[in-house]
Amino acid sequence: MKDLSLVTEKFTESVIREMTRICDAVGGYNLAQGFPDFACPREVKEAALAAIRDDKNQYPVTFGEPELRHAIALKALRYNGIKSDPATDITVTCGATEAMIASLRAIINPGDEIIVFEPFYENYGPDGILSGATPRYVKLARPDWRYCSDELAAAFNERTKAIVINTPNNPTGKVFSRAELEEVASLCQKWDCYVVTDEIYEHILYDGERHVSMASLPGMAERTITISSLSKTYSVTGWRVGWAIASERITRRIRKVHDFLTVGAPTPLQHAAVTALGLPEAYYVSLAAHYREARDFIGGVLAAAGFSFALPRGAYYILTDAAVVMRRLGARDDTDLARKLIETVGVATVPGSSFYADPGDGAGQVRFCFCKGWETLRPVAAAMAGLR
Ligand SMILES: Cc1ncc(COP(=O)(O)O)c(C=O)c1O
Repeated sequence: MKDLSLVTEKFTESVIREMTRICDAVGGYNLAQGFPDFACPREVKEAALAAIRDDKNQYPVTFGEPELRHAIALKALRYNGIKSDPATDITVTCGATEAMIASLRAIINPGDEIIVFEPFYENYGPDGILSGATPRYVKLARPDWRYCSDELAAAFNERTKAIVINTPNNPTGKVFSRAELEEVASLCQKWDCYVVTDEIYEHILYDGERHVSMASLPGMAERTITISSLSKTYSVTGWRVGWAIASERITRRIRKVHDFLTVGAPTPLQHAAVTALGLPEAYYVSLAAHYREARDFIGGVLAAAGFSFALPRGAYYILTDAAVVMRRLGARDDTDLARKLIETVGVATVPGSSFYADPGDGAGQVRFCFCKGWETLRPVAAAMAGLR
């Protein structure tokens, strides 16, 4: 039989989602995949049920129901400082996942390069390949995940089409400062490139950190695609509702790709999203407060077990240096350690190699997520005590 697609030979299935399947099979604690195991707000659930009962069950406007685009524009103005016209600048997608691939498909031509900070969220590797871009990686270095300005500047050239930013960052917990974003912005202006910024953790910040959106910086709205989603902020990762905000010129292209990829995100859930985006400030304060407590608790558990790391400043992951625990358990590498952690203490993690282009760079690391309720976090602490 003839060959299948060569492009799909260039990447593997998601390791993160595979870890969830392994974890489910043995009934372990899933600190691998970043989904909350507690309920989403009651009024958001009620709004979804009401939308279904009101027969909002047919195809949506392909690029998003008008009420939702309007709510996104309001929120983007208030929280992110981004001005957008709901009629022309917003595309509602099936999660941030679709927003990212649709955005890259909308801007990439053969021969184009994209710059990606490394370690990076696993999807960006296949996203680059599927869109036909050649990635260039710029390292975020321990302990505080700074990049080297010279290395960043050297990554740009006339083939650079875009830089992908994720702040707050998965897996490092880094929150890009205004000064860092300004540095990236001036390089993008110098080399005439776009920014695709994944801000899905925009409300999950610690220790007084403030979220800065690239598109709010002077001159950057025209060349920035801002991506976010309901998944993490409202604990509805299974709903698959996200969005991309960009200038009309870029949005026209994103909408075309989106229309033929998925037609639209689920209609009733788009209507419930309007309720979610209207939740009061207190909701976001209590979400961040829970995650800060969870971060400090799991941070203590991991440190006691022998893992080294810097506490995240945002998002809900801890990428650890696992050398001590690997020696203790006789693990060959990160993947072997992830397997041994499930076998010995029933805790699923993600091998560090999933976040690097060269798997060897992550061979001594594993990532834990802590987006869980106390019914999970407390037994995890008890189980992890078995590692000492
Ligand atoms: C940085 C980042 N972007 C996007 C996603 C996926 O978002 P969505 O569920 O909206 O597709 C995740 C999920 O872990 C993520 O960590």
